[in-house]
Amino acid sequence: MGRINFGQRAGISPTPMLLIGTYNEDGTPNAMVATWCVTATWEVVELNLYKSRKTTDNIMKRKAFTVSCVTRECLDKCDYLGTVSGRKVPDKVERTGFTVIKNGLVDAPYFAELPVTMECELLRIDPGEDDISVRVLGTVKNVSIDESVLNANGKTLDFDKLYPVCWDNFSNDYFIIGERLGRWFTLGKAYNHEGFHYEV
Ligand SMILES: Cc1cc2nc3c(=O)[nH]c(=O)nc-3n(C[C@H](O)[C@H](O)[C@H](O)COP(=O)(O)O)c2cc1C
Repeated sequence: MGRINFGQRAGISPTPMLLIGTYNEDGTPNAMVATWCVTATWEVVELNLYKSRKTTDNIMKRKAFTVSCVTRECLDKCDYLGTVSGRKVPDKVERTGFTVIKNGLVDAPYFAELPVTMECELLRIDPGEDDISVRVLGTVKNVSIDESVLNANGKTLDFDKLYPVCWDNFSNDYFIIGERLGRWFTLGKAYNHEGFHYEV
């Protein structure tokens, strides 16, 4: 069996599926799905958004957004939010029945049904790699995690309880992430003859 070439395509797959929460001009909550997102530093996240998104306008105006991990239980609602624009359906969040939380730490809403959320302040908007996109950088002011997905001592996330969804760039299908395989810096020990540790 050989390898087949599929040409020029940014084929990073899977990518996490995230829900971006913002406020419209009149204060109604809006949300869209984003998968072209990365961790920029331990405190900064990066979203690559089309300029045409209502979310992009909202972030420019309110200088804030939230980023939540999409979970299996909420997938159908989030898929809907990633399908229609708040420009055409301003009450799309209300239609999902999501419980809107206005924390006030940043000027953006999040949703009780999604258990892991970062509240971000706009750091900067850089030009995108094409004429139709922008790169949005946000400083995470706080990450909150619902108690239902914390570990037994309540000190951190229990990934086994989360059921986060990822998106496959090739099939356009959603998948669940789940099986625990082991801890970083331990599975590769057999090759680490010098005993190097994580370093900055
Ligand atoms: C799985 C999935 C991933 C998406 N990823 C992105 C993305 O990374 N950037 C983007 O601009 N749009 C992305 N979209 C499209 C937006 O979510 C969609 O256009 C949404 O309706 C925009 O809503 P808004 O105009 O209310 O902001 C994605 C949609 C889906 C379903």
